[in-house]
This record gives sequence, structure tokens and C-alpha cells, in this order.
Amino acid sequence: LKHFLSTEGLSRELLTEILDTADSFISTQERAVKTVPLLRGKTVVNLFFENSTRTRSTFELAAKRLSADILNLDIARSATSKGETLMDTLWNLEAMYSDMFVVRHSDSGAAHFIAEHVTPNVAIINAGDGRHAHPTQAMLDMLTIRRHKESIEGKVVAIVGDILHSRVARCQIHALRTLGAAEVRVIGPGTLLPADIDSLGAVPYYDMKSGLADCDVVIMLRLQKERMQNALLPSEGEFFKLYGLTEEKLAYAKPDAIVMHPGPINRGVEIESAVADGSHSVILNQVSYGIAVRMAVMAMAMSGQQTLANSEEPAR
Ligand code: CP
Repeated sequence: LKHFLSTEGLSRELLTEILDTADSFISTQERAVKTVPLLRGKTVVNLFFENSTRTRSTFELAAKRLSADILNLDIARSATSKGETLMDTLWNLEAMYSDMFVVRHSDSGAAHFIAEHVTPNVAIINAGDGRHAHPTQAMLDMLTIRRHKESIEGKVVAIVGDILHSRVARCQIHALRTLGAAEVRVIGPGTLLPADIDSLGAVPYYDMKSGLADCDVVIMLRLQKERMQNALLPSEGEFFKLYGLTEEKLAYAKPDAIVMHPGPINRGVEIESAVADGSHSVILNQVSYGIAVRMAVMAMAMSGQQTLANSEEPAR
């Protein structure tokens, strides 16, 4: 019984197995995900210390499709408000015969910390920790590319916007490179690109025209103001003018390029409605694929022989 904490350091075989397993859960009609008994008798606890719409809901649906019991702890109404520590909360939930914690937390490294301190009987799935990692989002993004573009191999992918504060971008870059993307570009102002972008294996671009040229996939990110210091906060109007995805800017990419966004989207800030709702957009398909991908990760974590993550704890 192991954990899924990051895409960093995972092999191509393992990432492909997650995608193949997710594919096997999607019915041929595309409108449904199969119900299977893989986690019957298991208890999954959703522990969201930070807000979520897509991740929390699709983990709940995925657990139900796997026939698990799912408990959504309402953190705001829990005894953490009476001074109980995070670990005491977790140890109490463990005592309820929990088998898996799905954890979202605003601190980078929270999922690693919890994985180190719970008993080996509980698997930890990282549902987003600070600006560090959001591995199931990255994997549903990989599935979206694979299903719309047949393969990730050889594709040119541009990730646009606030890369610096994005836990999604870091996981996407690791997964895209491992799965054979021809080039991973990041496009944004210098203040919103991480200093270590070269070592991550992505190529920085500072303008949309050159960055989007001949791209197969365009992934937009929102300004993650909740993780910014005020000094770094760009004006939304100026940001949209330079980096907001409009039909005009999308024309720089390949004619059959797909447009993705992990959500939540901020219309008129990083993307205009004509593009978000347009024929190139697969944004809502990403949400749908999230159920099957999360089913795959939970099923594999329950039966896994290895930890689905690099064991190194991230800097907080
Ligand atoms: N993409 C994503 O993580 O969305 P939520 O914050 O709604 O879960």
C-alpha cells in the first residue's frame, strides 16, 4: 500500500500504466465511467484543507465508482477549530479504519509530511500541496492530450501564464518530458517564471507570438493570487493584453491545436470566453477525465508495490 505524491521521478512505464488503467475505466460511449469493485470494503477520506470544486468532487465520484466508502471531512466544522493538531486529526481518522487519505493543503510538502507520519496502513494521495505538486491534475491533463492527439510523444506543448506559483505546471512538465513531448514551453512574464525553469527541462518564452508558434497543445493557467506576494501581482488588464488567450493569439498555434486549462478559469484575465467555450477547447473534457484518472491512481495505490513519487520532500 503506497502513496501518490508527485509525478517527479516516476518512470514512463508507470505513468503510461496510470493512463492505460484510466482509459480502461472510460466506457465506449465516453459519457460514462464504469463502476468496478476494486476498492469494495475500503474507506477513503477526502481531507481538503484548501478549497476545491473539481478535484474534491471527482475524487468523491472516483471512490464511489471504485465501490469504496468515502468520507468528506468538513474541515471548517472539524475539531481543528478547537486547537486539534493536523496529526491528531489524522491519527483519529486512521483509528476509524481508513485506508486512504486524499489530501489538499496550502503548504508545499504537506502530503509528504503526512505520508511520513501516518501508519503504513494508509495510502496518501496528493490532491495539491502549496505550489509544489498536483499530480492527479497533471495525469488527467496527460490523458486529455493522449485522447485528443493520439500521443504525447513528439508534441509541442506550451504552458502559459503564472508558472511560478503553479503546482500543476511543475507536475505537467515532469510528466510531459517523461512521456516524450518534443518540446515543453513556458510562456509568461519573467516575474512569473521560476528561476529553475531550465533545470525542469522547459524552454522559456516571454511573448505569445513566438511561444505559441506551431504548438499542438496550449495549456492556460490562472494568476494564483492566493500564493503571490503583493509586489508580484500584475495588473489583470495588462496581463490579459500580453498573455491572455484570444482567438487572435491562438491563431499562432497549429490550426488543430487544443486549448486546456486546469480550472478554475478567470474569463477575461488569462482566457477570453470565445476561446474557453470555442471549438479548440477541451477544458470540460479534462474535468470528465479526472474521474477515470483518479480511479486509476487510487486503485494502483491500493495494490501498488512502489511509492508513486520521488521520496524527496520538497522545500516549504
Ligand atoms: N484544477 C483544480 O485543482 O481545481 P479545484 O481547485 O477546483 O480542485
